[in-house]
Amino acid sequence: MRHVLFTAAAVGALLIGHQVQAQEGDAEAGKKVFRKCQACHVVDKEQNRVGPHLVGIMGRQAGHVEDFKYSDAMANSGITWNEETLAAYLADPKGYIEGNKMAFAGLKKPEEIADVIAYLKESTGG
Ligand code: HEC
Repeated sequence: MRHVLFTAAAVGALLIGHQVQAQEGDAEAGKKVFRKCQACHVVDKEQNRVGPHLVGIMGRQAGHVEDFKYSDAMANSGITWNEETLAAYLADPKGYIEGNKMAFAGLKKPEEIADVIAYLKESTGG
């Protein structure tokens, strides 16, 4: 009986640990995921590439880097970037903001999305 209880507690702890990790994301793992983005995006300098720089992305209004030429869809989306909107956009860029011009199919795994958001939070100053 004792053994069963102990096992149940251990499994419970593992499950909780896993859930926390899935929600919070792992910035270190996210750095690797960001390799898929860095051809087009810079996180630590206000420098645009194919895509706008991502400095201060958390809490930033979509489509508002001054010298970047956004699609009308992005510029007029009315979205503010936070964990929820980023997760939705990165899962399905075309579906979330129809007509935006980010040529990226999207991240399939929820962990990758959580991880890259954790990395963005850590590396973009917001
Ligand atoms: C092939 C180039 C390319 C890749 C790869 C790419 N993006 Fe983008 N991204 C863009 C472009 C271009 C835009 C602007 C879209 C528009 O104006 O419609 C954009 C816009 C964004 C925005 C909105 C920025 C703002 O100022 O509102 C975010 C956030 C973003 N990308 C994050 C990412 C992340 C994270 C990845 C990797 C998982 C990624 N992008 C991969 C080109 C890219």
